[in-house]
Amino acid sequence: MELYLDTSDLKIIEELWPILPLSGITTNPSIVACGGLPLGELLPKIRALVGPEATLFAQVLARTSEAMIDEALRLRELDPKLVVKIPALPAGIGAIKALSARGIATLGTAVFAPMQGLLAAQAGARYVAPYVTSVDANGGDGLELVRNLQRMLDLHCPSCSILAASFRTPVQVMECLLAGAKAVTVSPDTARQMLVSPAAEAAIERFEAAWSKSFGKLSV
Ligand code: E4P
Repeated sequence: MELYLDTSDLKIIEELWPILPLSGITTNPSIVACGGLPLGELLPKIRALVGPEATLFAQVLARTSEAMIDEALRLRELDPKLVVKIPALPAGIGAIKALSARGIATLGTAVFAPMQGLLAAQAGARYVAPYVTSVDANGGDGLELVRNLQRMLDLHCPSCSILAASFRTPVQVMECLLAGAKAVTVSPDTARQMLVSPAAEAAIERFEAAWSKSFGKLSV
């Protein structure tokens, strides 16, 4: 599986990159806007932190296929290995089709329905991103969307992977992975929740207390 961190915060990347088994960093326009650095400055800084093998993602803002293609090509000049996020709307699906014909890796984003995801996949997207919590918040069932989309990709478009997004809890992440999603992106908050285990901390403290009582210093 692939695990991504959904952030533009360089300090957080610096802190979590050495700890988490991350495949790369995802961003979206809100996340980039929140950080205040334009992509031209941000992407090289992230690349410098994560190294040449990591996969980075950034999204186009244009609303027509032609303009999305232009923007995607400009984004790829900023980072030649970038996966370009394209909304899986009609214009976006056209852009994905054209970009994949040129060998440019894309992710169909803002997937709220299985057929929308399948069309983006069939158009050539390397990844499709269902928004789990946002689907729930709009009266749907985000996990059911992931399950159905994964079954359709397995049956009809196995070259495309789900990169599930919009999580609030580690249990949601686990359920998506159990449903077969090959990739997930998590916010720093969700990543921290995944790392924290009060019971494990308590177990280690018990070992330390027993060791200190017998031997004093805490080392083998
Ligand atoms: C994915 O591309 C987005 O970054 C992700 O869905 C963010 O979702 P959220 O705004 O619900 O956290």
